[in-house]
Amino acid sequence: MGSLVRVLPALVAAISCLTALAIDIPDLRYLKAHNDYDPDGPYHEFLDYSPDLSVQGMDNSIRRVCLAGQWLLYDEHYYSGFKAFFSDVNQCHNLSSSYSISSLRYAGSPYGLDDVYYNLYEGDLWTGNEFKGNTNTPNVANLDMKVSSLSISGQSPWTFFTGLQYAGEAVCVYPTYVTNNGGILLHHNSIPTITNLGLSDNSIRSVAKGCLTDNVYRGDRPHQGERGDQGGH
Ligand SMILES: *[C@@H]1O[C@H](CO)[C@@H](O)[C@H](O)[C@H]1NC(C)=O
Repeated sequence: MGSLVRVLPALVAAISCLTALAIDIPDLRYLKAHNDYDPDGPYHEFLDYSPDLSVQGMDNSIRRVCLAGQWLLYDEHYYSGFKAFFSDVNQCHNLSSSYSISSLRYAGSPYGLDDVYYNLYEGDLWTGNEFKGNTNTPNVANLDMKVSSLSISGQSPWTFFTGLQYAGEAVCVYPTYVTNNGGILLHHNSIPTITNLGLSDNSIRSVAKGCLTDNVYRGDRPHQGERGDQGGH
């Protein structure tokens, strides 16, 4: 009992120290949504998912976005009707005036911008329900045999398996793309439909960190295909 009383204040001190650190990190994810093309106009800053932009008074009104991280925009509520996938570090984009964005969310870690992470999606083009994580996952739970697209970020490849517990067919995906702005890095790769990986739709059942198979996805680097393997890739 006495030791618990001593531990608690230390814990509280440690947590407030962490909170202070988090506020100082310069590479936090954000999306600033403007309802006008004017770069100096007002905006709403999003730090988290919004399944229904009418909650923020931004339904069908986003015209310009400035952002860090990977952000997905949809023209229907609850992440249906894919419209845009931005992977940027402090860049702005004007959206087509024909867009009517009604929901948005980010891909990647809820913590650091470039933390190692994966996101699985029920629909093609990163739509619908999601399963996500940063560690080995023997069973993708609600998306078991329902995955149609995915995204990875951070400096690690991931291996996706068609069997539970890392069995079955496997394919390894590297974070091939690197966005760099002033030394702030974002490693990423996004697969709009898992048939691009040579896997059947709705076949993924487990996920492991690292590249645990010789079957490496090179669809995004077509000039480093089979010949690249002999060259030591
Ligand atoms: C977007 O539109 C505004 C206003 O027309 C313009 O100043 C800006 O250069 C455009 N492009 C970007 C990427 O912001």
